Amino acid sequence: MTTRSAEPAPLPRFPADFVWGASTAAYQIEGAAEEDGKGPSIWDTFVRREGAVRDGDTGDVACDHYHRFGEDVALMRALGLDAYRFSISWPRVLPTGAGKVEPRGLDFYDRLVDALLEAGIEPTPTLFHWDLPQALEDEGGWMSRETAYRFGAYAAVVAERLGDRVRRWITLNEPFVHMSFGYGFGVHAPGRALLLDALPVAHHQLLGHGLAVDAIRTAVPDAQVLIANNCSPVRLRSDAESAADHRATEAYDILHNRLFNDPLLLGSYPDLSAFGQPDPSWGGIVREGDAAVIAAPLDGLGINYYNPTWVTAPADPSGVLPFDLAEPEQAYRRTAFDWPVVPDGLTELLVGLRARYGKALPPVWITENGCSEPAGLDDRARVDYLAGHVGAIAQARSQGVDVRGYFTWSLLDNFEWAEGYRQRFGLVEVDFATQVRTPRASFAWYRDLIASQRP
Ligand code: FCB
Repeated sequence: MTTRSAEPAPLPRFPADFVWGASTAAYQIEGAAEEDGKGPSIWDTFVRREGAVRDGDTGDVACDHYHRFGEDVALMRALGLDAYRFSISWPRVLPTGAGKVEPRGLDFYDRLVDALLEAGIEPTPTLFHWDLPQALEDEGGWMSRETAYRFGAYAAVVAERLGDRVRRWITLNEPFVHMSFGYGFGVHAPGRALLLDALPVAHHQLLGHGLAVDAIRTAVPDAQVLIANNCSPVRLRSDAESAADHRATEAYDILHNRLFNDPLLLGSYPDLSAFGQPDPSWGGIVREGDAAVIAAPLDGLGINYYNPTWVTAPADPSGVLPFDLAEPEQAYRRTAFDWPVVPDGLTELLVGLRARYGKALPPVWITENGCSEPAGLDDRARVDYLAGHVGAIAQARSQGVDVRGYFTWSLLDNFEWAEGYRQRFGLVEVDFATQVRTPRASFAWYRDLIASQRP
C-alpha cells in the first residue's frame, strides 16, 4: 500500500505484429526550404507574416533533417522502430504543385526510403501534412475543387516512384485541423479567416483523398492506404447537461469528427444544418459521384489523438458557431501546451468509433499521440503520458477495437507550427543552435517498451 514507484504500471502484451512507430512531418523537420529546386509552400509564406508565428520562428532550417536524415534514421534504429511516419513535401516534388516534377525532390525521399528499409524500418509516408504549394494557394488552395485533382496527380507521381518499396501510405494529415486552423480561423497557413465559409475545404480535401487512394492503388496494387484524422471525444461538464448543451456537443462532434469520418466510412456527410448548411449538396460544392470517390475502401483509419474537447451551449445563440468550447471541470495534469492529459479519452474515442461505425470501421492505427513538455532530458511526464495512452489502447483492444499500430508524436523536437520552437514534443531533444540530438528518458522508455513486446 505504501510503495510508490516512479515507473509506470507494466503494460499488457500486444500482438507480435503490432506496429510501433514514430511520426514527423516535412515542414516541421526538413529545413532546406529553398534547396534542390523546392518551390515555396503556404508555410514558407505564412511564417513571414508579421506576428503569425511565435518569436518569428520559421521552418527554414528546422531540424535540418534534409541533410541529417542518416543520423535520424540511426536514432530510429536505436529505438527499434517497426515503422516511421514522415510526410512528403508536395512543393519539393512539384514546385508549383502541378506539371514539372523536380527529380531532386523525389530523390531525397528515395534516399530516405532506402535508408529506412536498410535499418529494417517500414516507411509510412503521408502525402499531405499541410504544406500546400503556394502556387496552388494562389489559385484558391483547398477552396478550389481543382486542388483535389492536383493532389490525385501528385499522389500518382510519388506512388510511381516509391511504390516498389513503400506499401503503407497515408493520404492526408488532419483535414479537420487544416480546414479550421488554416482556412476557418487563419491561425495556421494559409491564414484565411473564412469561418464557416471554409467548409468547401473539407470536401475538396476528402475528394483529393479519394482520388489519391485510386492513384496509389493503380501504381501499387498491394498498397495499404490510410488517412490520418484528428479525432476528439466530446465531453459534457456535469454542470452543463441541458438539452442545449447536448445539442452543442452533437454539433461539435459533427464538425470535428463526423464531417471527416462519415463520408469515408459511410459514404455520406452528416447533417450540417447546425452550421447553416441544410442542403446536402452544400450549395453545389458536393457533386454527384463525389461520395463514391471519397468512400473508396480504406485499409485502415489513422487516428491522431491528443485530448477530449469540452463544449457547452453557446452563450450567444445567434453567434456563428453552435457551441462554445469549455474547460474541463476536473483538474487534469496539463502538458506544456496546456492540453489536459486524459488517456481514457483515447479508449472512449476508439470504443465510440467501433460503436458508431461497426463493421464499416477498418483496422485503426494511432498515427499521432504525444505531448509537449518543458525542455530537458528527464521527461518523466512524457513517459507517464505515453504509458497512459498505450495502456488506453490496450483497454480499447480488450473491448474489441482492432488497433494495429501506434505512432508517437514525435521522434524529434521540431517546428510546432504557430508555436514555433517553443513547444517540444520529441523523444529526442534537438538543440536548434547546434543541431545536436540527445535522446530523452522517454526515448529509453519507448525503446524498452518496444523491445519487451518482441516475441
Ligand atoms: C497535430 C499535427 C502535428 C503536430 C501535433 C502536435 O495536430 O498533425 O503536425 O503539430 O499536432
